[in-house]
Amino acid sequence: MARSSIVGFRDVDASHDPADLIRYLQTVSEVPFVRDRAQARLTRSRIAPGHVVADLGCGLGGDTIMLARQVSPSGGRAIGIDRSRAMLEHARARAEASGLPIEFREGDIRSLPFEDASLDACWMERVLIYADDPAAVLAEVRRVLRPGGQAVVQEYDYRGGHARWPAPPAPGCIPSGAPPR
Ligand SMILES: C[S@@+](CC[C@H](N)C(=O)[O-])C[C@H]1O[C@@H](n2cnc3c(N)ncnc32)[C@H](O)[C@@H]1O
Repeated sequence: MARSSIVGFRDVDASHDPADLIRYLQTVSEVPFVRDRAQARLTRSRIAPGHVVADLGCGLGGDTIMLARQVSPSGGRAIGIDRSRAMLEHARARAEASGLPIEFREGDIRSLPFEDASLDACWMERVLIYADDPAAVLAEVRRVLRPGGQAVVQEYDYRGGHARWPAPPAPGCIPSGAPPR
């Protein structure tokens, strides 16, 4: 995918070809490594039945559905947030068929549509990279997490061919499991 298309994720609806970005995400979501990594992160997280969890920058909602499956026993639910109406339209159609407790809201990760301390977990995959000020987004995530809540974050380094494995531990971070093949 062209670099211009990757940058397009900052504002999908204003990009030159939203359908191209949607096709790209669909393709990536079917890559076994990506699916397995997401499941491994969930397994290693503290996200549990009964939790209220938000998927920030949810895109087509694949992870939101996975999260809803995890939390729905005991009355939990998952809320997907994205600034793109085109993404949310696809996400809603997908989730409807699942019958799981899922809601999608149009929103911006820089100003989350949640009360203070109202969530058990925030899940982010490939969205912080599009923020001009990721630290401000994380401060916002902290605001909406209840005490003891958890942020689960996955980002890739698209700039170079370098990989450090094992990744140096960062305070409060979950090691992401097996090295990439
Ligand atoms: C690369 S996609 C990843 C989607 C999904 N997390 C996944 O793993 O398939 C990035 C998503 O973040 C959304 N996004 C980018 N900037 C955003 C912002 N400031 N607020 C909310 N969503 C944003 C885009 O619309 C897009 O759906």
